[in-house]
Amino acid sequence: MPDKLRVAIIGCGRMGQEYLRAYTTYPDTQVVALVDPQPDRLKAVGERFGVEALFSNPDKLLAEMVPDVAAVVTPVKYLKYAAIACAQAGVKGISVEKPIAATLADADAMVNECARRGVVFAGGNLQRAMNEVQEAARRLHSGEFGELAGAAIHAFGGEISGGGCQHISVLRLFAQAEVEEVLAWGSPSEVLTQDHDTGLTINGVFSLSNGLECQVFGTATPYRGVDVWTHQDALLRWDWAPPQVYVGLDTTGTRRQLDIKYPPYQWSEFSYLTGSIRSFLAALKGQGTPWISGHDLRQALEVAIACQRSARLGHVPVRLPLEDRSLTLYPSPYRWLGGDVTGLPQSVAEARDQK
Ligand SMILES: NC(=O)c1ccc[n+]([C@@H]2O[C@H](COP(=O)([O-])OP(=O)(O)OC[C@H]3O[C@@H](n4cnc5c(N)ncnc54)[C@H](O)[C@@H]3O)[C@@H](O)[C@H]2O)c1
Repeated sequence: MPDKLRVAIIGCGRMGQEYLRAYTTYPDTQVVALVDPQPDRLKAVGERFGVEALFSNPDKLLAEMVPDVAAVVTPVKYLKYAAIACAQAGVKGISVEKPIAATLADADAMVNECARRGVVFAGGNLQRAMNEVQEAARRLHSGEFGELAGAAIHAFGGEISGGGCQHISVLRLFAQAEVEEVLAWGSPSEVLTQDHDTGLTINGVFSLSNGLECQVFGTATPYRGVDVWTHQDALLRWDWAPPQVYVGLDTTGTRRQLDIKYPPYQWSEFSYLTGSIRSFLAALKGQGTPWISGHDLRQALEVAIACQRSARLGHVPVRLPLEDRSLTLYPSPYRWLGGDVTGLPQSVAEARDQK
């Protein structure tokens, strides 16, 4: 491995710029190229981060140079093309944003192409890869809080794939298990029949490979994340923040919160991508595996599709892995095609001046 890994950022929108902030700060990485089909944005972002090699598409980049690392941060529709082109060109480490794809076969193609070529294939900005989430999981797995007894997921934010991949990835981490079967109810019925996940509420039960069941509360509860509990009366709660741990009950009969002192993690102060990117780079250097991998993202898509299927069939149990790899669930249009929640892309002036 070279002293400084040469990194290309493919997709220089709002999220791509977060990756740029991270990769231009680390001492062992150097951003050598940017790719984006919008010339004004590309130029503005190149000037802001001092990157001179600018390309309008991944093929032009790869014809000119093969970086060590490609961070693919395009809208979901274009992740597959860029990731596979990079793998075939000889890029050693590739990360993609979320959700990984709409169609299972596309996710398979990315995971398999990278595996076949020995490419480290990572996911992107997911809570599973936060340092605190990983540390809480390590302590849970060490047996410190007792043996796992159950799990629950609360609220996907109305996006079982685009948002639910966060929950499903954390659940699989905490439980150290795969989802083997889903039984789901979906509403409202007019959304359930559509081909995207926007506004789809899923309630149900996941059967896990370790024999546990996970209750799924898509309908609003006071919580929004993943709970797991143990036979020692401990509860570990991830709710979009460093996980909280409760052990036993206090004198009023409510759960007693442990004062978990998460230490400061290097570089976390400037980027929420730290755990994701640093574990990815460590894996590239032969140390461990990415804390969020392409495989993890593929599993999340598969669970989301299984939920929609089960609900559509009239809450019929659906076993995983799904046989039909042509099954498809689109994320919301802004994730699929770009822009933000309102459908508006970031202006060039904003891209140039963002601090
Ligand atoms: N993990 C998270 O928390 C999170 C949050 C927001 C968005 N996302 C994901 O990040 C990705 C990007 O989102 P965004 O908010 O930055 O969108 P964005 O629209 O701001 O930026 C996307 C950029 O990709 C460019 N692009 C389009 N096609 C391309 C191609 N073929 N090659 C190179 N560049 C291309 C666009 O011109 C645009 O500049 C999406 O996959 C989205 O789902 C993840």
